[in-house]
Amino acid sequence: MCGIVGYVGTEEAQDILLRGLKTLEYRGYDSVGVSIKSDDGIKLCKMSGRVAGLESYLEKNRISGLIGIGHTRWATHGGVSQMNSHPHASFSKKIHIVHNGIIENYADLKVFLQGKGFYFESETDSEVIAHLLEYYCCDNFFDGLIESLRHLTGVFAFAAMFGEEIYIAKKGSPIVVGHGLQEYIFSSDLSGLSGRARDVVFLEDGEIAVLRSSSCDFFSFSGEKIDKQFMEVNFDSSESLLEGYPHYMVKEIFQQAEVLERIIQNYIDKNSIAFSFMNPGCFSELKKIYIVACGTAYHAGLVGKSIIEGYSRISVEVVVASEFINNDPILEGNTLCILISQSGETMDTLFALRKAKSLGIYTLAIVNSRFSTISREADEVLYSLAGVEIAVASTKAYISQIGVLYLFAAYLSGYKRDLSEFLDTFRQLPRVLRETFCLDSQIEGLAERFSSKNKVFFIGRGLDYASAVEASLKLKEVSYISSEAYPAGELKHGTIALIDDQTLTIAISSQESLNSKMISNAKEVQARGGDVLFLGKSSSHDDFSTFETLILPEFDSMFAPFVTIVPLQLFAYYTSLKLGLDVDKPRNLAKSVTVE
Ligand code: M6R
Repeated sequence: MCGIVGYVGTEEAQDILLRGLKTLEYRGYDSVGVSIKSDDGIKLCKMSGRVAGLESYLEKNRISGLIGIGHTRWATHGGVSQMNSHPHASFSKKIHIVHNGIIENYADLKVFLQGKGFYFESETDSEVIAHLLEYYCCDNFFDGLIESLRHLTGVFAFAAMFGEEIYIAKKGSPIVVGHGLQEYIFSSDLSGLSGRARDVVFLEDGEIAVLRSSSCDFFSFSGEKIDKQFMEVNFDSSESLLEGYPHYMVKEIFQQAEVLERIIQNYIDKNSIAFSFMNPGCFSELKKIYIVACGTAYHAGLVGKSIIEGYSRISVEVVVASEFINNDPILEGNTLCILISQSGETMDTLFALRKAKSLGIYTLAIVNSRFSTISREADEVLYSLAGVEIAVASTKAYISQIGVLYLFAAYLSGYKRDLSEFLDTFRQLPRVLRETFCLDSQIEGLAERFSSKNKVFFIGRGLDYASAVEASLKLKEVSYISSEAYPAGELKHGTIALIDDQTLTIAISSQESLNSKMISNAKEVQARGGDVLFLGKSSSHDDFSTFETLILPEFDSMFAPFVTIVPLQLFAYYTSLKLGLDVDKPRNLAKSVTVE
């Protein structure tokens, strides 16, 4: 989703902004632009398309200057076009802004400003910020900014460049300011600082930063000066490198064994689980758990429900975050709300967190990105330790989320049972995943064979159904092939009407006790002319030899979700490559969805 970067210091802004914009590419975007203050005023350059396009234009048309702002846009209000790209300039062109979020009352403000003679060039909500600032800032920029903020409703982080200064305001969308030697750099996330600053400060909602090359001051929206301290963070920028892999998605799939090793190292101590909670007593008498998340994180929640209910016998409801916000949850005594998010910035999940807190429900965030808003606002946090995930299609974050959920389920049940067997099995997972990676070339061949299918169904029972849902999302995200997941027994209740020779059905069968039912369901598909790819374990190989098969390594079926998803992530990856698509940046998607 939209990414902001900005610089004020002693070096050429153009190079620093372009580097920052490249690292923000993973968030998902459709257009890009920069404004840089040169000796003869602010120069703006923007276009639809990729950062590489802007870079090659600017190579030939360099803008020299030490202050600048840049933006990657993910279209919401107004189509993908040069005019709708950011930055936007005020009427006099003296103020340039970049914005992430949505100005909800932009239509009213636009009518008001048009009535005052302001001319709008774009269809965006963001442009009103530039004109509003100009309208109120005629005498004193700072006072005008405070007045403008009183009139803006919605969600935003914006940066306004005026004179030798950059003004940043935050309400809802994230922004981090980094401090280097005689310079400040800011961005929507840590990666956008391009490793230039180790000392950073995260703006909170209702805060303003005013940056000059020599100083940075912080204020509240009411204009009072506030004290904020920069803190040192360790950000491993090597995570943002491909390190020999052709794409981030495949790099991240193959990193999954290491992710589990990290989880084991950090969270397992001999025969116990080493979570350090602020208030561990809150978990001992739970009556009900809500798991709330979006997309892949929601699918991790589906696995979490099975495991927590199975191990600790506490009732769990998994709710899509955007629905939780509107629902009226029934509170049954001691309730916990678990919010799961890779980015920690997803607006729907953040608003769900705030709703849970407003209802007095204790909250636990399972979050990958440190210092993210959700991790800061939740009562308790467990970091999922996936490392930086760049590919828009989430893979290692999913494994890390289910890893933490398994351990949390065991932690809850640990009040009543011995965990040694569970933890021994968990410790085997990195090895089992590495065995699963050996299926790589077979999966590439299967992707080649099936990439022409126009519809794919994923079916599974129990824990395999949760994997089916996630596998289906992965395939549609990166291949644009229409796909759906069904509980295997449900297909015959209607959807089987869609099966023909253009469809592929991927049957996931990791649970010994359900194997014969899965084989029957797969045969029902085959009998109607549909192709079947059957994922099973070798012990039952003879039974399903009539299908195209993928034999999974032997493992404890209770831990199946870790293993079944890997070949299906690879299948999605190779299908995307066979179709010649941009696997790391699929169309229309954003990595961090910061609008409702
Ligand atoms: O950052 P989050 O985990 O909160 O993001 C949630 C979803 O937007 C995300 O999982 C999305 O579905 C991914 N593109 C899935 O690959």
